[in-house]
Amino acid sequence: MKTVIYYFSHDGNTQWLAERISAGEMADLCRLIPYKEYPRSKINYLVGGMGVVFGLEPQIAGLKFRPTEYDTVIIATPVWASSFVPPIKTFLAQYDLRDKDVILVATSSGGDATKCFKALRKRLTGSRIVGEYSFVSPIQADSADVSEQVSTIRQLIGSKA
Ligand SMILES: Cc1cc2nc3c(=O)[nH]c(=O)nc-3n(C[C@H](O)[C@H](O)[C@H](O)COP(=O)(O)O)c2cc1C
Repeated sequence: MKTVIYYFSHDGNTQWLAERISAGEMADLCRLIPYKEYPRSKINYLVGGMGVVFGLEPQIAGLKFRPTEYDTVIIATPVWASSFVPPIKTFLAQYDLRDKDVILVATSSGGDATKCFKALRKRLTGSRIVGEYSFVSPIQADSADVSEQVSTIRQLIGSKA
């Protein structure tokens, strides 16, 4: 059973986490890259937040790996305005994940990811959500809790291999 991680990351936390979850060929890693980059300054809180509020679906580059080749899909997103990021919205609109096992992963700076997971589940009717994991500023934290959650996710993937 093959696993792929689709993730978006603006400031590196979600990427850092996705790399740890996939380490040692546990899963293929596929970054979602919007054609138009989000601003590098604080203005991104406004641009990114508005993108969520207005339900934007920015164009993303072609995928390195397609979901059709996998049984298990991990979706890893930063929490923006209490929800998932617009590039993930584009991905979910373009690719069919019905009948797949899906693991949800969110990183935030302190806010709770409940609304983000709820919104993702709403977009994923037809998929089997087999896990939900949230992390607060994982790079900065780099704690035992983070390692424990990462190893729980890796065990879950491993159990499906
Ligand atoms: C546009 C924007 C909106 C955000 N909204 C929230 C939020 O609602 N709640 C929260 O806890 N963190 C929020 N954050 C912080 C990010 O979720 C957090 O820093 C996350 O780990 C970033 O992931 P990344 O480093 O992979 O980009 C927001 C950040 C940005 C840029």
